[in-house]
Amino acid sequence: MSDSPYIDLLKKVLIDYHRMEMGETPPIKKNKGHKPRYWLLYALERILKNSDFTIREKVPFNRKKRELGLDWPAYADSMIGLKRMDNIEFCVNDTIKNNIPGDLIETGVWRGGSVIFMRALLKVAGVTDKNVWAADSFEGLPKPNAEKYAADKDDDHYTLHDILAISEETVRYNFEKYGLLDDQVKFLKGWFKDTFPTAPFEKLSVVRLDGDMYESTINGFDYLYPKLSVGGYLIVDDYGAVPGCKQAVHDYRQQHNITEEIIDIDGSGVYWKKLR
Ligand SMILES: C[S@@+](CC[C@H](N)C(=O)[O-])C[C@H]1O[C@@H](n2cnc3c(N)ncnc32)[C@H](O)[C@@H]1O
Repeated sequence: MSDSPYIDLLKKVLIDYHRMEMGETPPIKKNKGHKPRYWLLYALERILKNSDFTIREKVPFNRKKRELGLDWPAYADSMIGLKRMDNIEFCVNDTIKNNIPGDLIETGVWRGGSVIFMRALLKVAGVTDKNVWAADSFEGLPKPNAEKYAADKDDDHYTLHDILAISEETVRYNFEKYGLLDDQVKFLKGWFKDTFPTAPFEKLSVVRLDGDMYESTINGFDYLYPKLSVGGYLIVDDYGAVPGCKQAVHDYRQQHNITEEIIDIDGSGVYWKKLR
């Protein structure tokens, strides 16, 4: 529970925790032991599997899943769930309290909910010298580059652009509808591998990596972790959910001798405070 009733309410609204709408499961996977309820739809999907068309089962809203960010919400502005929202609140407020220099960034924003929440936290704290950065292709995930990143070989997130590709215009609109679009909100549009090397910020205080794949995660570490201030926070959304993401975390930590303890948030997300 936050000290601010506005912040407490906002995070619930951003994940549609208050609305008993239909949740949405990830798409039916090909022959992975999944027993679909609607065989005709499943058969249709198999026929159309090379097209952009994907059939999903709608499931009733499940409060526990929404707390843990385990469903893909049909309408919410963020899919990360309540506990990972609480974690953003903790990390942002701690860096403000301790005067840690640098902007805040989320890499992989989807409908924008997490970074909208970061902007709200700065506003409530009266912080005017930090920006929040929304980094995304705004067209979904890239096709795997399996030659360079073997861990992404079978990754099929790029086929889900009907769900995962949200335009910059929509994200701007989502900021606006909460009254939070202003010049402290910056957009970094394009593939991470292209935008991160020349990103126009020097210091970061909170880095939230939410790009799912090995490539998207390691790009974040390679280009952004060196800019993260000591005392700042590194958050990885998909550590417990996507094996390639977890591997990227361990590869980078090993190569750079990072020994800070990895702290679990909710079984999927993890974070640590940069100590040196
Ligand atoms: C799971 S969604 C992010 C969820 C979001 N953080 C939230 O609060 O709901 C992943 C996002 O990462 C973006 N993405 C993943 N890899 C990327 C890459 N290499 N370059 C640019 N965008 C990428 C996708 O476009 C998508 O918007």
